[in-house]
Amino acid sequence: MGERIVVLGGGIIGLATAFECQRRGHEVVVLEKVACGGQASGAAAGMLAPFSEIGEDPDDFFRLCLESLKLYPKWQKEVKEVSGMNFEYTNSGSLHCVYHEADLLALETRQQWQGQFGAKAEILYGEDLFKLEKELSRDMIAAMYYPEESHVYAPDYVKALEEGCRKLGVKIYDYLEEVTLHSWQSEITMVAKDGRTFSGDRLVVSNGAWAKELETVLDLSIPVYPIRGQICAYNIPVGKVKHIIYTSQGYLVPKANGTLVNGASEDIAGFNTAVTEKGIRRLTNWNKNVLPFLEEEVPFHTWAGLRPATQDGYPLIGTLSNTPEIIFAAGHYRNGILLSPVTAHIVADLLDKKQEIVPLTSFSPERFS
Ligand code: FAD
Ligand code: GLY
Repeated sequence: MGERIVVLGGGIIGLATAFECQRRGHEVVVLEKVACGGQASGAAAGMLAPFSEIGEDPDDFFRLCLESLKLYPKWQKEVKEVSGMNFEYTNSGSLHCVYHEADLLALETRQQWQGQFGAKAEILYGEDLFKLEKELSRDMIAAMYYPEESHVYAPDYVKALEEGCRKLGVKIYDYLEEVTLHSWQSEITMVAKDGRTFSGDRLVVSNGAWAKELETVLDLSIPVYPIRGQICAYNIPVGKVKHIIYTSQGYLVPKANGTLVNGASEDIAGFNTAVTEKGIRRLTNWNKNVLPFLEEEVPFHTWAGLRPATQDGYPLIGTLSNTPEIIFAAGHYRNGILLSPVTAHIVADLLDKKQEIVPLTSFSPERFS
């Protein structure tokens, strides 16, 4: 029989989890302080890029990201079908570009270990590279081409997921201003600022960079903190840039609507989501070294979001051992859009007592306590 699930936070992780749990027969309520998707999820560049983002070693986090990438084709189709809404999902492939001979060894090392995980990864040099992406700076000497890396238009994906949840029967309460965990001993009880209470059998903690709020009430160390990402977008002719372009100083993602998204800073500014001139300038100053035509261009839009970072860079996913009513799905840092399907499946599998898709020990929400 389905359980009553309260999901705290209406970002991509909360909504994806609500979507999966509701369609498996649970009765889900989402509680959102402000607007669904209004924080990190709506600000993201939408890259689904485990190979570009994780270059160092094949750890459990890399495996988690890879599982999620595999789930995406089916998942995004289902979200579109259920919601009746479309959003961009482009299998563009990506180019991880380098400028110096000394960086070639790092590319080769990546290719070797990522290849063992089935990654399609090809190193392209000089003219072969420029044939694939015409506008690249000729200062580059090579790039790793990952044909499987893709991207979604994150703001539209979140909207579709919210609509999909509603269509499935998830009850979404937004603009609650403040929501706190009141008790969980006999059942989960959450209280909103206006005094309304919401109860359920289980709580999913998916309030992103704000997860630390539960530290005192749960008597648990939750080292999740916000890392601001400042980001901007150019208007360019559709098709002028074809692939996600990654360099050591930033990334560029060409969207189907003609915007070229350029991210992103990593700075500590508490919960402040303002952009600074310095933050954006650091991105735009570099861009001429990637795509020389950008020297003449000015971004038409700048914004920022708060990535939910954890002390060790891994998300918190799993049940509290002494309090199985509480499941964590938070701290997805730079990869929450990519990780949304796998997180949703893991939480639903925990509820349904199914075999875990990946081992969860490394992601235990209790590992810091
Ligand atoms: P959020 O989207 O922040 O959602 C948490 C929600 O909880 C918020 O809506 C908040 O209002 C709500 N909330 C907080 N406290 C409470 C409370 N007490 N009660 C009720 N609601 C509460 N990831 C990728 O995979 N690919 C990318 O290309 C990518 N690019 C990024 C670029 C930038 C600039 C940034 C900032 C992030 C990027 N990310 C990317 C990371 C990704 O955006 C995050 O990992 C992901 O959005 C986290 O989702 P979330 O649902 O946990 O958090
Ligand atoms: N994953 C891209 C970012 O967090 O900026």
